[in-house]
Amino acid sequence: MTDTPGFYEHLTFNAPLSEARADALAARVAAAGPSTVLDVGCGWGELLIRVAAQAPGARALGVDTEERHLTRGRARARELDVSTRVTFENLSGDQLSEPADVVICIGSSHAFGDSPAEALAALKPLVRPGGRLVLGEGTWEVRGPGDPDLVWDDVVALPSVAALVDLAVEAGFRPLWIETANEDELFAFESGYLADLEEWLLHHDDADVRARADEHRRRWLHGYRNAFGFAYLTLGVPGHS
Ligand SMILES: C[S@@+](CC[C@H](N)C(=O)[O-])C[C@H]1O[C@@H](n2cnc3c(N)ncnc32)[C@H](O)[C@@H]1O
Repeated sequence: MTDTPGFYEHLTFNAPLSEARADALAARVAAAGPSTVLDVGCGWGELLIRVAAQAPGARALGVDTEERHLTRGRARARELDVSTRVTFENLSGDQLSEPADVVICIGSSHAFGDSPAEALAALKPLVRPGGRLVLGEGTWEVRGPGDPDLVWDDVVALPSVAALVDLAVEAGFRPLWIETANEDELFAFESGYLADLEEWLLHHDDADVRARADEHRRRWLHGYRNAFGFAYLTLGVPGHS
């Protein structure tokens, strides 16, 4: 047991994403036979690695600005025996210019600005004509009670699923597949995030970490739980590849 709480140790993906949905997403984009796959804000790149594993001809690049995530990704790629085809680089999304057949951007559109529209505009030239973008993006649609004072402004400003798809179409993409995280995935994501703190607190008496965990849980369960959602859009770029 270390002196600090774990760092995303209890999450397989840093997004509300189940194993089943991840494998289905990976299979869907791998079926197109991409030669190149790019994951922007890849974290530790678990989805990228799964796409590469299902697309044996593909070279894959994951970029992120958090070195600890990249280190975990490289180890995972070695574990799954794809490290000769999957590389990770410490780069910001806005430094990229080389397009790929499949681009993944899940929970990372902030790498390109403050809005999904800005991200879609920046991501479009990174997708080869005929290629695909897997976009994972937070959404806001009130489904039940919640205290608005507990919710961060940037979360409340998120688009609905419908508005997000409209933005994608306006940016020149075609929606090939539209899906949203279900309640189990949203709960597993929050619980997995909090588990780093709660497991550590079982063996450490630390008022700051306890306050952090309590505040996050309060904002989640009493604040955004009944409105925050997460959409996964598989978007196509029309054109000849
Ligand atoms: C919510 S996480 C999503 C990670 C990953 N896509 C996944 O689904 O597991 C957002 C990621 O964006 C990364 N990030 C933040 N700013 C970035 C930037 N300017 N360029 C690239 N990555 C960035 C963070 O380090 C973090 O790993």
